[in-house]
Amino acid sequence: MYTKTAKTSNQTPFPLIMQTILVTPALAYMPSYLDALREGHRLGAATVKTPEDIAKIESDPQAFLDDLLGPKPATRINELGKEVERVPQSMVWLVENGVFVGDAGIRHKLTPELEISGGHIGYGVRPSFQGKGYATDLLRHCLIWVREHLNLDRVMLTCRTDNEASARVIEKNGGALIDITPHPYTTGMTQKRYWVAVPVK
Ligand SMILES: CC(C)(COP(=O)(O)OP(=O)(O)OC[C@H]1O[C@@H](n2cnc3c(N)ncnc32)[C@H](O)[C@@H]1OP(=O)(O)O)[C@@H](O)C(=O)NCCC(=O)NCCS
Repeated sequence: MYTKTAKTSNQTPFPLIMQTILVTPALAYMPSYLDALREGHRLGAATVKTPEDIAKIESDPQAFLDDLLGPKPATRINELGKEVERVPQSMVWLVENGVFVGDAGIRHKLTPELEISGGHIGYGVRPSFQGKGYATDLLRHCLIWVREHLNLDRVMLTCRTDNEASARVIEKNGGALIDITPHPYTTGMTQKRYWVAVPVK
């Protein structure tokens, strides 16, 4: 459980008790996941789903989950059109009281391409839950997941320099800035790369 103290301009601070858990994506959460997509939810650098995409998912949610969680080809085409290694990736959803809040993709190892941009973990929080500390909580859960499932003592995270919220999320989880480099896929944009230590038990 994670406690965040929130304060609005004319109120005294009050505690917000988060009762979030990390789950494997499952049918039980699909109605709220679809609501999140309709709000414009996206994971990391992914684009927002179109109404057509959403209708397809809604028509066969099990097929969507099978595709999300199922085996993948050994390679993928990256943002520059180059065929590169695809590493194993675990998809996790943050839920609260059975409602989908956000998601993350945890890549089990780095490749030269992921070291340039992408790192180990990509994440997103649905718009109606943003600004309340959920992404900070989601990354904290992910670091614990890494501790429990992967033999890593630190993970790399990257974010565009104009994504100040994501940089805060990483820094609040102990991120140490490695460098600021030109973004490889967006002309004129820069990105921040961080190491984040995996917490010890
Ligand atoms: C980035 C994202 C995950 C943040 O989610 P969130 O739940 O709103 O984040 P949190 O509530 O945990 O807030 C994190 C911090 O960012 C700050 N923040 C939020 N919006 C901000 C903004 N526009 N500018 C600067 N700081 C901002 C918050 O104040 C908070 O810091 P604080 O606790 O010191 O006040 C969410 O906006 C999102 O899903 N965006 C789309 C996908 C994406 O960009 N993923 C990350 C790719 S690297």
